[in-house]
Amino acid sequence: MKRVLIWVLSLWSVVGIGWSRSEDGLQELKAKDRLLSFLEKDAVSPGANSLMIPLTLIQGAASKGAVCLDGTPPGYHLDRGFRSGSNSWLIQLEGGGWCNTIRSCVFRKTTRRGSSKFMEKRLNFTGILSNKAEENPDFYNWNRVKLRYCDGASFSGEGQNEANQLYFRGQRIWSTAMEELMAKGMRNAEQALLSGCSAGGLASILHCDEFKDLFPSTTKVKCLSDAGLFLDATNMAGGHTLRDMYRGMVTLQGVQKNLPNTCTSQMDPTSCFFPQNLIANIQTPLFLLNAAYDAWQVQESLIPSSADPHGFWRDCKMDHSHCNSSQMLFLQDFRNQMLSAINGFSMSNQNGLFINSCFAHCQSERQDTWYANDSPRIGNKAIAASVGDWFFDRTATKAIDCPYPCDNTCHNLIFNDVTSTITISESTRLTFTPLNLLNAFLITLICVPNASWGFSLDRD
Ligand SMILES: *[C@@H]1O[C@H](CO)[C@@H](O)[C@H](O)[C@H]1NC(C)=O
Ligand SMILES: *[C@@H]1O[C@H](CO)[C@@H](O)[C@H](O)[C@H]1NC(C)=O
Ligand SMILES: *[C@@H]1O[C@H](CO)[C@@H](O)[C@H](O)[C@H]1NC(C)=O
Repeated sequence: MKRVLIWVLSLWSVVGIGWSRSEDGLQELKAKDRLLSFLEKDAVSPGANSLMIPLTLIQGAASKGAVCLDGTPPGYHLDRGFRSGSNSWLIQLEGGGWCNTIRSCVFRKTTRRGSSKFMEKRLNFTGILSNKAEENPDFYNWNRVKLRYCDGASFSGEGQNEANQLYFRGQRIWSTAMEELMAKGMRNAEQALLSGCSAGGLASILHCDEFKDLFPSTTKVKCLSDAGLFLDATNMAGGHTLRDMYRGMVTLQGVQKNLPNTCTSQMDPTSCFFPQNLIANIQTPLFLLNAAYDAWQVQESLIPSSADPHGFWRDCKMDHSHCNSSQMLFLQDFRNQMLSAINGFSMSNQNGLFINSCFAHCQSERQDTWYANDSPRIGNKAIAASVGDWFFDRTATKAIDCPYPCDNTCHNLIFNDVTSTITISESTRLTFTPLNLLNAFLITLICVPNASWGFSLDRD
């Protein structure tokens, strides 16, 4: 099997006293951050035909209190449409997990997910953001916007924490950004698509009807959620990792008031952050693109390290080909839960679906999964073609793959956490003297294409 080493992250950190093995440990937060970076980035090394689009900070956002976790202004990247796409707008909401505790939100302030100080000044527009017809057949000449994510609650919090100088202003960031884009020409849109991946994919569900309401009824408006179908699932040890995390986030960030009434009048606010309880009530046409074995959910919701302290599930978690039969059954059950969560949703003619049986996450942002010769397909149709057919009402698109391992077009993600060596001196610990903990932490993430899949960088 050919292997392509695409990303090697090496993180050495020297930490003083007070390090604990809790979920909130700094190493853990950093590891989660690296995982997100890997999953949500275009995992291809620099090439010639890059489209680097500059970051625009929203001037005046601060006066409306629409700020990142650390109080810095939010931002976006806009590439103007041209020719027939001049009056069409695509908004892509950036993803990047959530923060659910003071500690994890304070950590975020030191990253691009919580402060525009750390955001890339230019981003590579690929996949659904590409400006080339051969890479992005239906949206290439639209106005394409990537709205950066720096609030930690899928653009839906409202509040602040004075003691820790934390601003939970996701909802205001959303509104302010939409106002800014309307002023930049989006108000004249003839058609518009709100999209997003991961936490941004969930945000595109949460804000879908609000987005539609920005426009006159003559504008064709739809929403696409990529890898946003986070299920209220039970982990391999019987716990509710994701629900517990959402509960903390909803409470800490004051999300409840911004969740749809149709849900909060029936259920507790935490439940109303789960798409399975929202999608039936969304009026605007919505497309759900998701891997049935979503790589982030496998890592962080189904087999979180906290629920597997002895690492019995570790090999399976890192590489699905190492799962034994009972572990695979557990993953198949997750797929079944996903399919039943979308059962009612799929009945509506206006909705679209592409649920492929892959171990992937964010397939619309990466060129290799969105539209390429060897990109994932269901019934010989690539993701870009499926989304385009649905948006333009060319054909109904409700594609659900047969269960693993029937799909040989997947670009599966394999994680190889080579070492996680923690050296700690017993005597130092016992005497309670301040100690420096040298933590060698090396994560090697390897993308292993299926043996039949030719990868552009695979030159060996
Ligand atoms: C930008 O993305 C394209 C398409 O995936 C890729 O070919 C190119 O190498 C990327 N450029 C950078 C600087 O990452
Ligand atoms: C699969 O692995 C898990 C975790 O090590 C173990 O508990 C289970 O018994 C194994 N199942 C089979 C069928 O080997
Ligand atoms: C890889 O593709 C082959 C066919 O080319 C298929 O038989 C096999 O099951 C696939 N493996 C995985 C892990 O998807």
